[in-house]
Amino acid sequence: MRKLIVGNWKMNGKPSCLAKPQNFDEIYPSQDRGHLDIVICPPSLLISGMEDICTNANIQIGAQNCHYLDKGAYTGEISVTMLKDFGVKFVILGHSERRAMGETDKEVSLKAIKVVKENLTPIVCVGENLEVRKSGHALKFVSEQIKSSIAGLSKGYVLAYEPIWAIGTGVTASIDDIRKMHINIREIIGPDVKVLYGGSVNKKNATEILQVENVNGVLVGGASLDMIDFALIAKAAG
Ligand code: PGA
Repeated sequence: MRKLIVGNWKMNGKPSCLAKPQNFDEIYPSQDRGHLDIVICPPSLLISGMEDICTNANIQIGAQNCHYLDKGAYTGEISVTMLKDFGVKFVILGHSERRAMGETDKEVSLKAIKVVKENLTPIVCVGENLEVRKSGHALKFVSEQIKSSIAGLSKGYVLAYEPIWAIGTGVTASIDDIRKMHINIREIIGPDVKVLYGGSVNKKNATEILQVENVNGVLVGGASLDMIDFALIAKAAG
């Protein structure tokens, strides 16, 4: 399966960041990475300015969220059709930082269905918190979260396993925990859906993580803001 390397810039970025996809391409030229898909998910404001730069650098653009309706009186929201008009190909959904703001599995599944319907690819995030991990119920928790977050979908999406306690903390899940969780996820979603690992992925740990069975790529937060680091992570995919 082709590996997928996704950078989630979260709420970071300014106009000068529009050049970053070009910088990435200079560090890791597109002719050397035909075996990989690279996606950058900037804040929505930067998407339109990045469309041509990303196309030239053979990098795809993703969004960090969307609404499940096309238009209407939803102040502050952006629809999938709007994202599509500006060249977006992927949409991160159900990130734990959004779930912490109240997003439910039901909303995630409605959004994921809409994204697939518009021929874009949702990257549906799941993952347990530290309390669940310590209680020994992480596999069960994530299994249930997957089932309700992708309800109504059998293909056309990407799943990202991101243990909450590993996001932005510098602590990564152990290789053994990643392997066990990804085997568990694979049993639920079948052989064709890509499964990414996310949570403090960096240039030092990427090679080992990307070699784990059933890890089809990584979702990178902090380290994706530095194009040298992000390129080294992508190179680690082999
Ligand atoms: P991190 O974030 O790489 O900074 O831990 C990952 C994510 O939130 O997607």
